[in-house]
Amino acid sequence: MRFPQPLRRIRREGRSGRIPLREGQGVANEQDRMERIVALAKRRGFIFPGSEIYGGLNGFWDYGPLGVELKRNIKDAWWHDCVTTRDDVVGVDSAIILNPRAWEASGHVEGFTDPLVDCKACKSRYRQDELEDARRCPKCGGEVTEARRFNLMFRTHVGAMEDSTSQAYLRPETAQGIFVNYKNVLDTSRLKLPFGIAQIGKAFRNEINPRNYTFRSREFEQMEIEFFCRPEEADKWYAEWRQARFDWYVGLGLKSDRLRLRDHEKDELAHYAKACADIEYAFPFGTSELEGVANRTDFDLKQHQEFSGRDMTYYDDEAKERFLPYVIEPSGGVDRALLAFLCEAYEEDEAPDENGKAQKRTVLRFHPRLAPIKVAVFPLVKKDGMPEKARAIYEECRRHLAAFYDEKGAVGRRYRRQDEAGTPFCVTVDGQTMEDGTVTIRDRDSMKQERIASDVVLAYVRDRLHL
Ligand code: GAP
Repeated sequence: MRFPQPLRRIRREGRSGRIPLREGQGVANEQDRMERIVALAKRRGFIFPGSEIYGGLNGFWDYGPLGVELKRNIKDAWWHDCVTTRDDVVGVDSAIILNPRAWEASGHVEGFTDPLVDCKACKSRYRQDELEDARRCPKCGGEVTEARRFNLMFRTHVGAMEDSTSQAYLRPETAQGIFVNYKNVLDTSRLKLPFGIAQIGKAFRNEINPRNYTFRSREFEQMEIEFFCRPEEADKWYAEWRQARFDWYVGLGLKSDRLRLRDHEKDELAHYAKACADIEYAFPFGTSELEGVANRTDFDLKQHQEFSGRDMTYYDDEAKERFLPYVIEPSGGVDRALLAFLCEAYEEDEAPDENGKAQKRTVLRFHPRLAPIKVAVFPLVKKDGMPEKARAIYEECRRHLAAFYDEKGAVGRRYRRQDEAGTPFCVTVDGQTMEDGTVTIRDRDSMKQERIASDVVLAYVRDRLHL
């Protein structure tokens, strides 16, 4: 979790260190693995470089047909588990551009900065805290300049006048859009403490060094909750959210020893934060944060109260007291979660081809809730009524879940394409279907095939995927 630091700026991503590599996870292997994941994501339409036909734009990425479904499934799972199924959390969708005073109050105008240095010889630019030698350029060995503070907020202007009075910012986090609506939500709902306000949306940071694929981008999405509670209950709620958020990733498939919870050292904490923990994943390029959970105390409400002049206190009519609530903030990135799910799901193994010969296969073992396509339906051949029968099964399935129909090429290749998309089940209509009404259904992970009645395909898939 990265805080604006009006008093001191601390880089937190570098602190993480490495989760020890498992057997077969050498650095070269990991690099190679990452390259293959990136290639698959491009080839199968998960992730494309942003505006690629113009040579791309560093730090910006586009999601293709499979990527957008995966992303939507992550956001839906988060919203379902953190908002819909809880009676103490509600949602908002705030504007991306806020009154600039909000960013003064939050500390971003003053302190949301990274230390920027330039190489005096080759003019390359770096974040000083990422250099091995803080005074030397890693490219040419030249001396670098003194660090200056570079504000990460993208600037824009509102209206026709482009002067300092019209300057505004693209939000660098969704959190402040929640704080500025805290009173509106409180006044228009019957919520009582403790309660949370959730938001999913785009955030923008003019990162000096976007890198590691989508991991550090300049445009990304966040999933954030500000959970308001009585100050004396904040430690309890912090502990609860810290664990709940870790368990959420585990429940969706990040089961391996690549996931961990790391509590911040005292000197890593922002001056107003009482506690903070990062949920970290060992990506092939290194171990880094997916989400941070922080006890932000009453800092934000206090700041907004002071800067807006509006009363942000909460009145407890049972205890007959007025106070500023404390805030627990679970703050995660959609794109980072997607990248972790993609890296975790990626596997290479072997599968027999049509002639029984072992062939290398690439498979994405997504959790069923996240898989972009849940079931694919194929006719074995394009004749003898098989396409019509397969289409009927597909039509029935797609009314209820994400389904795909494919009749092109050898059936083995069609299986392989679905393995690469992470589709949990493939259904094939063959000669026997036309005689006894049964189809084969193939499991992505075990590659085992069963024969089931064609009229129970939807029920079978739903039952197995718990959908
Ligand atoms: N409101 C607190 C906050 O924004 P943060 O750690 O700066 O904290 C929260 O950001 C999450 O947003 C991170 O854990 C990460 O998942 C995501 N995130 C932050 N910067 C990002 C970037 N440049 N690219 C992609 N995701 C990013």
